Amino acid sequence: MKAPILSVTMAWLASLALADIKVPPEFKAGESLKWQIEIQNTLSTSAAVTPSVPVWDVDLFHVARTPKIIDTLRSQNKNVFIICYFNAGLVQKSDCDYNTTWDTPAYRGLLGNVWPEFPNERWINIRNETARTLIKKRITLARDLGCDAADPDNIDGYGVDNDDSRTGNKKTGWNLQPEDDIEFMRVLSKHAHNLTTLRGYTMLIGQKNAPEIGPTLLKESLVDFAVLEDCKGLRDKDADVFCDQFQPFIAAGKPVLSIEYPASLEASPIGSTKCSSTGANSTEYKASCDKTKGNAGFSTVLKIKNGDGELNGCTQYCDAGGVGTGVVVTATDPGKDGAKCPANST
Ligand SMILES: *[C@@H]1O[C@H](CO)[C@@H](O)[C@H](O)[C@H]1NC(C)=O
Ligand SMILES: *[C@@H]1O[C@H](CO)[C@@H](O)[C@H](O)[C@H]1NC(C)=O
Ligand SMILES: *[C@@H]1O[C@H](CO)[C@@H](O)[C@H](O)[C@H]1NC(C)=O
Ligand SMILES: *[C@@H]1O[C@H](CO)[C@@H](O)[C@H](O)[C@H]1NC(C)=O
Repeated sequence: MKAPILSVTMAWLASLALADIKVPPEFKAGESLKWQIEIQNTLSTSAAVTPSVPVWDVDLFHVARTPKIIDTLRSQNKNVFIICYFNAGLVQKSDCDYNTTWDTPAYRGLLGNVWPEFPNERWINIRNETARTLIKKRITLARDLGCDAADPDNIDGYGVDNDDSRTGNKKTGWNLQPEDDIEFMRVLSKHAHNLTTLRGYTMLIGQKNAPEIGPTLLKESLVDFAVLEDCKGLRDKDADVFCDQFQPFIAAGKPVLSIEYPASLEASPIGSTKCSSTGANSTEYKASCDKTKGNAGFSTVLKIKNGDGELNGCTQYCDAGGVGTGVVVTATDPGKDGAKCPANST
């Protein structure tokens, strides 16, 4: 009769572990939770960082190369919530662990197809334990550097593999299915939630897009927030419209950080990576800032989506007073993007 008691005890312990996730009190869902994301270039630390917002999403390997980013943000606001972005479904040549680990004979077998849209990136075999261990190491690195959360990108390789318009090497090379990405997130989430941040909270982890697997990730309490791109389908007319599928996050108090990509935020001519000082034009501003498209309670930023300018320092906010207002450009220091990687990050 011992086994059932043991399994009941184990289930009880597991539920305790879930309840034990410690979230900083400031990190709560709501339109007023302002954030900024800058993953294209390294944040400039030579002066005060603008805008002054409580949540930042920055690139893990920029932070590894320039740890002063964390110190600078914290010196301005000790409670700032810092999310560290990294690619989880693919690895890219600029990642500090790429040349030293992934692209070496012992690990090269984990690399699948190059993503045609992003030629410096290759899909990895997320079913393989070794690959999972290397991505878990990135989460530990993020914690060690002082990040409060991980933003693992491209956890929707199943969408690429189930897209009939893609064939052969336009797919990931791993024939991924939703369950593969769910299991990958289980592994990453357990790892993150088992870490304590330098501020004494639980290391949190977000869901990036991937609405198809959201209900499972949320039901199992694997994710603590979401980062969405173009959930209204304004930029990519063929894309799914999926904002409303993230209302359960808002109901659970979990922030939904959403990005809209109005083309007119790019300074003319369109295609430039520069920020228009007046922001998106009235049609695009209104559509991007409209809160009635299943996106109530989301924290929204308007950003540039275009090659070398994608997710750069240019942002427009919706709460500044309307069309023509709310444009902020975070200062960056692109010269530091490829700086030498410290040993702990390779
Ligand atoms: C890896 O090597 C390539 C080619 O030599 C180089 O362009 C890239 O910057 C290197 N990456 C890192 C992170 O050092
Ligand atoms: C996982 O990948 C490593 C490195 O390529 C390989 O040695 C190992 O056999 C793989 N494991 C499985 C179960 O396929
Ligand atoms: C959690 O962390 C402890 C050490 O702090 C380690 O012994 C344990 O294996 C970890 N568990 C998981 C699921 O990662
Ligand atoms: C706003 O910008 C978009 C994208 O460049 C363009 O297609 C549209 O015609 C513009 N609308 C107005 C009213 O200027």
